[in-house]
Amino acid sequence: MVSAKALIASLAATGALAADVPSLQIKGSKFFYPNGTQFIIRGIAYQQGVSAGGSDAPSTNATFIDSLVSKSNCARDIPNMVTLNTNLIRTYGVDPDGNHDDCMQMLADAGIYVIADLGNPTISINRADPQWNVDLFNFFKKVVDTMSKYPNVVGFFVGNEVTNNQTTTNASAYVKAAVRDMKQYVKDQKYHTGIGYAADDSGDLRDQIAEYMNCGDVSTGVDFYGYNVYEWCGDSDFETSGYNRIINFFQDYSVPVFFAEYGCNKNGGAAGRKWYETAAIYTKNMTDVLSGGIVYEYFQEENDYGLVELSGSTVKKLDDFDTLEKAMQNIDPQGVSMSSYNPSGKAFSCPSVNATWQSDGKSLPPTPNDNACECAVSASTCVPKKGLDKSAYGTIFNYVCADGSVCAGITGDPSKGKYGTYSMCSDAQKLAIVLGAYHSKHSDASDSCSFDGNATTQKSSGKTDCAKLAPSSGSGSGNSSTKDNAGVAVGAPGYGVVASVASLVALVASAMFVM
Ligand SMILES: *[C@@H]1O[C@H](CO)[C@@H](O)[C@H](O)[C@H]1NC(C)=O
Ligand SMILES: *[C@@H]1O[C@H](CO)[C@@H](O)[C@H](O)[C@H]1NC(C)=O
Ligand SMILES: *[C@@H]1O[C@H](CO)[C@@H](O)[C@H](O)[C@H]1NC(C)=O
Ligand SMILES: *[C@@H]1O[C@H](CO)[C@@H](O)[C@H](O)[C@H]1NC(C)=O
Ligand SMILES: *[C@@H]1O[C@H](CO)[C@@H](O)[C@H](O)[C@H]1NC(C)=O
Ligand SMILES: *[C@@H]1O[C@H](CO)[C@@H](O)[C@H](O)[C@H]1NC(C)=O
Ligand SMILES: *[C@@H]1O[C@H](CO)[C@@H](O)[C@H](O)[C@H]1NC(C)=O
Ligand SMILES: *[C@@H]1O[C@H](CO)[C@@H](O)[C@H](O)[C@H]1NC(C)=O
Repeated sequence: MVSAKALIASLAATGALAADVPSLQIKGSKFFYPNGTQFIIRGIAYQQGVSAGGSDAPSTNATFIDSLVSKSNCARDIPNMVTLNTNLIRTYGVDPDGNHDDCMQMLADAGIYVIADLGNPTISINRADPQWNVDLFNFFKKVVDTMSKYPNVVGFFVGNEVTNNQTTTNASAYVKAAVRDMKQYVKDQKYHTGIGYAADDSGDLRDQIAEYMNCGDVSTGVDFYGYNVYEWCGDSDFETSGYNRIINFFQDYSVPVFFAEYGCNKNGGAAGRKWYETAAIYTKNMTDVLSGGIVYEYFQEENDYGLVELSGSTVKKLDDFDTLEKAMQNIDPQGVSMSSYNPSGKAFSCPSVNATWQSDGKSLPPTPNDNACECAVSASTCVPKKGLDKSAYGTIFNYVCADGSVCAGITGDPSKGKYGTYSMCSDAQKLAIVLGAYHSKHSDASDSCSFDGNATTQKSSGKTDCAKLAPSSGSGSGNSSTKDNAGVAVGAPGYGVVASVASLVALVASAMFVM
């Protein structure tokens, strides 16, 4: 372990001290250094100013701090992480336009790896209105492009605790579609990074979530599974804390599992934490199954989980920092060597859809395809006024979609595994598509394309086969539920009055619920 002092000295020196941080590899349910030594996570959540633990409605005007762009912050904080024997940090928001070179180099020099969340408070898969769409896909790709050039980035979470209770189980289908498409993107780009998900620990859903994220075709399952667990509080034990249950459940999981957040603060707040669970997490029977954990969290916030208090530009260690330092000094995790390890885990079968689990595992939401969406937008005869503020969308969607058939092509039903071809378009594209469908359905009457001047007519491109541009549309485990019939009218009543105007209606109507 590098001492904090030595690290500071080395950070001050110029240039060429790049310690070799080889990219990690995954074999079965374990991470390894390329030399065959197992990598067991000793992590810290490193995020200033954003409360983690949710995918609450993202807001375009929200702000967040990218933890890995400020050289001075990294120079201030990395020595503290080294003191805590840290080998990985988790961040909760990457600005793809930021420059991460300095921080990533300092982390590499300290032997510290990174797992970054792809979303941030301005854009993420929203559990209340779950989508996997063009905007999210484009943004996630930018983050992956920015971060995958660093060898010490292990990978990414497509979401954090998106499904969090029984009313949001249908959001998991969109999370899994994101996993599928980001994995394919990483593969196409030949990046070394992996794609995972960070799940919450709600007692009635945790099994289904863990099964769902690693079920069916392996191309749709996570590369690693993060699990936010706060069950061990204070002076607990393996039975009371649920750790024994966790060991048993994940025994045969086929990809690495680790605590993506831990550190219960119920007994005396952050400062009162004893970190007995740290000792437990690194015992042999835990590390046989799980790959360590990530302490939540570095910075003290209102939710009171911090290790340090930030004031101005300086940080002060809180009481739990020193306690954690001691706990970390006393652990001695015993990994296995890559060559002696024969993985025996397997994927689950997908949880069945029932009253408390509303995401079908076989047919996932379609892969976002900007070309197909733009094609359908250009085929529309009615589009949102240029520059229309997103806050005006809701009212128009509600009005237009009161006639369900108009909006069939943009909606999805995770419980049935049925998705409209254009359910993967951005909100702006969807609005243009349904405005056109509505306008056509009302025979292009001028009062059906106004909405107080928020919509305006345009000349349609006349294209009717836009769905064909989305080759993997509707694919779940290599199957297509919509593409074969896309672009063919299915004879919904009232459609097809006039061939030229009916085309878009047909396009939209046929895109949904093709059996
Ligand atoms: C393998 O590499 C890691 C990281 O560089 C190092 O910590 C570990 O000691 C190495 N293992 C062996 C057996 O050399
Ligand atoms: C940000 O947007 C939300 C609605 O999305 C609004 O309630 C809030 O007032 C806005 N905040 C600022 C600072 O504009
Ligand atoms: C489920 O979670 C949502 C979003 O966090 C919350 O608004 C809702 O009240 C929760 N419902 C239940 C039944 O717990
Ligand atoms: C998800 O389930 C909730 C609660 O049952 C429901 O209100 C919402 O419309 C569903 N969303 C989707 C996309 O199916
Ligand atoms: C794991 O080991 C601890 C003691 O180190 C023990 O209390 C616990 O029951 C063990 N769990 C299992 C599942 O064997
Ligand atoms: C739904 O299925 C899960 C198993 O996947 C089961 O644990 C749960 O009790 C079921 N819920 C209902 C309401 O049947
Ligand atoms: C049109 O947009 C404005 C804001 O840009 C909004 O106040 C108004 O309610 C919208 N009208 C309709 C019918 O959506
Ligand atoms: C595709 O879906 C059809 C209809 O649901 C099913 O019969 C077929 O077996 C599926 N094919 C694959 C490869 O999963």
